[in-house]
Amino acid sequence: MKRIGVLTSGGDAPGMNTAVRAVVRTALAHGLETYGIPEGYAGLLDGRCHELKARDVGDILHRGGTFLQTARCAAMMTDDGPRVAAQRIAEAEIDGIVVIGGDGSLAGALALQKQGVPTVGVPASIDNDIWGTNMSIGVDTALNTIMETVDKLRDTASSHQRAFLIETMGRNCGYLALMAGVVCGAEFSLIPEVDVTLEEIADAVAAAYARGKSHSMILVAEGASLDIRDVAQYLDERKLGYESRITILGHVQRGGTPTAFDRLLATRLGVAAVDALVEGSSGVMTALSGREITRVPLEESVARHRAANLAFHHMTTMLAR
Ligand code: F6P
Repeated sequence: MKRIGVLTSGGDAPGMNTAVRAVVRTALAHGLETYGIPEGYAGLLDGRCHELKARDVGDILHRGGTFLQTARCAAMMTDDGPRVAAQRIAEAEIDGIVVIGGDGSLAGALALQKQGVPTVGVPASIDNDIWGTNMSIGVDTALNTIMETVDKLRDTASSHQRAFLIETMGRNCGYLALMAGVVCGAEFSLIPEVDVTLEEIADAVAAAYARGKSHSMILVAEGASLDIRDVAQYLDERKLGYESRITILGHVQRGGTPTAFDRLLATRLGVAAVDALVEGSSGVMTALSGREITRVPLEESVARHRAANLAFHHMTTMLAR
């Protein structure tokens, strides 16, 4: 193995730059050349890559986003995509690839591996929906962004006796809304994994008002079964004592300087990815298991969905009393 490529793919996540830096510096320590592939699989299919040396990844470990840039690439999910991608890799004389991204990107990594390209995945998605790793890169930073914002919203909610409904990201996985509910002391967290009725939410809000709480905070994952606007309207119609207001957090959750946790996780996962390639272990994803970094077969990770720990759902409502 003489040359490895690295790309970032899918939704960006704070810590991706940190992981790229770790990949490049570890590869150089192993005497390898490293090639950055811009814009994820789109750049790969276009045959675009450029050598990265030590200085090229200087002063980036603290920057959110990804300097390689990223893209969502439907072409990679077609039958022909992985074959063309493997051909481009051969043309560039690259011997192995590190793919940093979420579940869709890791599916592409598995497809590359099946084309005979030694490939290692690094889990990076703020949703924390990747099976096989306790945490993915970007999750801790996103959760802290949500927490800081909800704390600010609580100030104004208390001033006006309002019920605030805050929408977090998480199309299919309610992790961010669920954990934000715990760390922000919310009345309720609405997540895709748990169906609740409008009445149940109203009861929790009514109980908060009856206890004399000056505000009520409800976290809503974007993929929850109830629409945030319908919930707000229902609460206002029930006249529970609070006026409702809605805040959609959106892409602010994807930016910002990575936290110490994410920098450490991204560094460890990036280093482990190059070590795996050098040792001839590919078709795997580097993962956090407890405090250790492990290797999980991509076949397993891609085929399964990381479930949210519903004990936290109960904890939120119990502790809101
Ligand atoms: O997959 C991560 C994620 O942030 C989801 O939580 C969100 O629904 C989606 O990406 C947004 O995608 P885009 O940035 O393409 O609008």
